[in-house]
Amino acid sequence: MALKNTNPTKTQAWQNLTKHFNEIKGISIKELCKDVNRKEGFSIQLDDLLVDFSKNRITKETLDLLLQLAKEVDLKDAIEKQFTGAVINVTEGREVLHTALRSTKEDAILVNNKNIKPQIQTALRKIRSFSNKVINGKWKGFTGKSITDIVNIGIGGSDLGPDMIVESLQYYKNHLNTHFVSNIDGDHVSEIIKKLNPETTLFVIVSKTFTTQETITNAETIKDWFLKSATVFDIPKHFVAVSTNLNAVNNFGIDKANVFTMWNWVGGRFSLWSAVGLSISLSVGFDNYRELLNGAEEMDIHYRNTDFDKNIPVILALLSIWYNNFYEAETEAVLPYSQYLKKLPDYLQQAIMESNGKGVDRNGDKINYQTGTIVWGSTGTNMQHAFMQLVHQGTKLIPADFIGYKESLYGLTDHHKKLMANYYGQIDALAFGKTKEEVHLELKTAGEEDKIATLLPFKVFEGNRPSNAILFEKLTPKSLGKLIALYEHKIFTQGILWNIYSYDQFGVELGKELAKKLLDKQ
Ligand code: F6P
Repeated sequence: MALKNTNPTKTQAWQNLTKHFNEIKGISIKELCKDVNRKEGFSIQLDDLLVDFSKNRITKETLDLLLQLAKEVDLKDAIEKQFTGAVINVTEGREVLHTALRSTKEDAILVNNKNIKPQIQTALRKIRSFSNKVINGKWKGFTGKSITDIVNIGIGGSDLGPDMIVESLQYYKNHLNTHFVSNIDGDHVSEIIKKLNPETTLFVIVSKTFTTQETITNAETIKDWFLKSATVFDIPKHFVAVSTNLNAVNNFGIDKANVFTMWNWVGGRFSLWSAVGLSISLSVGFDNYRELLNGAEEMDIHYRNTDFDKNIPVILALLSIWYNNFYEAETEAVLPYSQYLKKLPDYLQQAIMESNGKGVDRNGDKINYQTGTIVWGSTGTNMQHAFMQLVHQGTKLIPADFIGYKESLYGLTDHHKKLMANYYGQIDALAFGKTKEEVHLELKTAGEEDKIATLLPFKVFEGNRPSNAILFEKLTPKSLGKLIALYEHKIFTQGILWNIYSYDQFGVELGKELAKKLLDKQ
């Protein structure tokens, strides 16, 4: 049941891709886009989502060869193994089953010969009933008042996912104020505490291991602060925990009834679909949370069942490999044209870089080809006035994902028209640029002929900079779930193609160990 083990650079497809790359590396997106049928052949529609990848430096042959690579490493087999609960996180001896958390199908998924579906349903019911009680005011604090504020205490996957989703779904938010404390920097927790009333605040301590220094330190500080106004007997009304480590939770003083379990077969950075998403459900209500899961499930079904040439996560993963491993592009930009998605790049940095930042293959051998891409980004249009100069005219090739929505949520059509004009304007500017001739004519028409000799080279845009347009109808919990699952599957696909293990993260340990040693010495 283990994942197959294929060095991608030793495949026939890789040899063919290398040859093909040398033949077409200078290819022009502008020339390619003269084909009026290109958009149709290089885009995929999945219900409310349209992914247009026509503005890439690829031909039909490039795509065929990349698809051949996916076939040679037997991606299909790997996808089935992930969905059906094989122990594909080999180095940690674990299954990888975040997809099971959003599955509404009846089919059993076995872990240690036990179907995990019933426990997932029980956990969801507990999230629903708890969220309802807090939202409708029936859950009371130690002085009999209803809850007004939620504080999520966690870090990494126990913070970034819930924080990003709560921010992204602000439009759907209820009356509760939601706060996130993560950093060990005491100023972070102090600033949050300043805003809180202990009588009306609920603390959700989220830690898979319940040993993470930042989370436990922040939780202890908050507990001390709380106990200045209340007694230990009031803790059950104000502290709940999400963890796999029930003993540690118990030692912290949290009531058994207030523990939301999670499981080792869910990786931290893929855990917002489990009770780690409790603060999401509290913030937007359980029905919206379920919609988020439903959207993710739709993407799961698409990823698992669709032929690779029409499979969105697979195509985006292959394009990323094309630029990373052949064009030697080191980074990728994620550019959402929605202010709601401002935390998406941070979230994706953990998901992508903690997963695929690996230098050793599945044999344990040092890798001599490039793996994990560096991902970064910010929202449009703000970033157009910040870093886009470098993306347009700098010396680096930076493939970009433009994420957009056909409709805005508040319906300010004038704003939205302008926003989307910028979205398409940036994509076209990157792809097609502006030639010397065009600049020449432009200056001449403006009556600035005297400036042509000095200004012309600075105003030229080479273009030929690739991007994908990821366009949804509207930002809803469901479309957001679909978007996040898309990136999750892209990550896994790339890990398979690079022959690495995407679901461990030993690289974060050494720094932690050294910090601990330094602390012990003090
Ligand atoms: O930084 C490493 C890491 O293990 C992440 O993978 C994880 O999301 C984060 O720490 C938090 O871990 P925990 O939920 O166990 O506190």
